Amino acid sequence: MTCQPIVRAGEWTQDSNRHLAGFLPMPRNVLIVDDERDTNDILASLVQARDMTPIQVFAGEAVFQAVRERKPDLILLDLMLPDTDGFTVCEKLKRDRETNLIPVILVTALNDAHHRLSGVRVGANGYLTKPFTPDQLFAAIEEAMDWHSEHQQHGTHGEINFDIRSEPTFLQQTNDYLSDLYAHTPLTERQIKDLKQVVLEMGGNAIEWGHRRNPELPLRLTYRIDAEKITIVIRDQGPGFNPSQIPHAASDEDPIGHLDVRNELGIREGGFGIMLAKGLVDEFSYNDKGNEVTLVKRFPRD
Ligand SMILES: Nc1ncnc2c1ncn2[C@@H]1O[C@H](COP(=O)(O)OP(=O)(O)OP(=O)(O)O)[C@@H](O)[C@H]1O
Ligand SMILES: [Mg+2]
Repeated sequence: MTCQPIVRAGEWTQDSNRHLAGFLPMPRNVLIVDDERDTNDILASLVQARDMTPIQVFAGEAVFQAVRERKPDLILLDLMLPDTDGFTVCEKLKRDRETNLIPVILVTALNDAHHRLSGVRVGANGYLTKPFTPDQLFAAIEEAMDWHSEHQQHGTHGEINFDIRSEPTFLQQTNDYLSDLYAHTPLTERQIKDLKQVVLEMGGNAIEWGHRRNPELPLRLTYRIDAEKITIVIRDQGPGFNPSQIPHAASDEDPIGHLDVRNELGIREGGFGIMLAKGLVDEFSYNDKGNEVTLVKRFPRD
């Protein structure tokens, strides 16, 4: 949409060639998304000159079909498109498990902090501001490919902690938010659904039994991802309990016997949460006190 030239005259140098002479795997197919034909063509010839195959599209909606059919190794995405904006397209690509590992470089004439931040928020892997030199373009491509190979080797690693108010809606929101993170792991849709269910059950217990529904008590959720698994720890501030002494809860051996106990004690219907959660994760354990539960889901091997 912009009329600014993207390459300044005289900047196509031998240095550009050397820059690319490294050993990083470079993309084979590069999807170029820009409604400005000139810009699109220039980008195409630049990547072509580096032995990459350009795939040119001129509108946001064409991206998804092109991605499905041509399976690009990298996407150069203009921010201002006629039918939609690059952020929306990028976000959609990054939320889809089929496409979220394709590096996306946002290409734009806008260069302010706000836009960069939005780019980061939608998961873009690079940002290129017009006008740019070939060296800058290739440096951005290299960096994005670096991210890609790093990601392929190690996956998403790290740990996030949340201290939330003890309210079911906050628990629900955090859980939903985290499913975006799961999409970057090899977990299947089914496993993600199971894991979300387990967090709701165990977080629900922390709120109801650990905190006796006092919303002011902070509930701590820890999500840890490594190469093989995701570990979720849910900790409450309550007195804990002894998980081997809950006659009012179901067990694998006797899934309904506890119902009479609950009836006698005048406890609401239920008592299935822990049994259900145990069946949906690969490891399930409480700390000694009983106010912290650790849940592990291992990634499927391919
Ligand atoms: N964080 C916790 N702190 C204290 N007690 C707990 C905690 N989590 C579970 N419990 C005890 O374990 C029992 C069994 O929990 P479980 O989730 O299996 O059933 P429930 O919460 O009673 O009912 P349901 O989950 O089916 O609605 C609870 O009734 C409670 O007594
Ligand atoms: Mg429960």
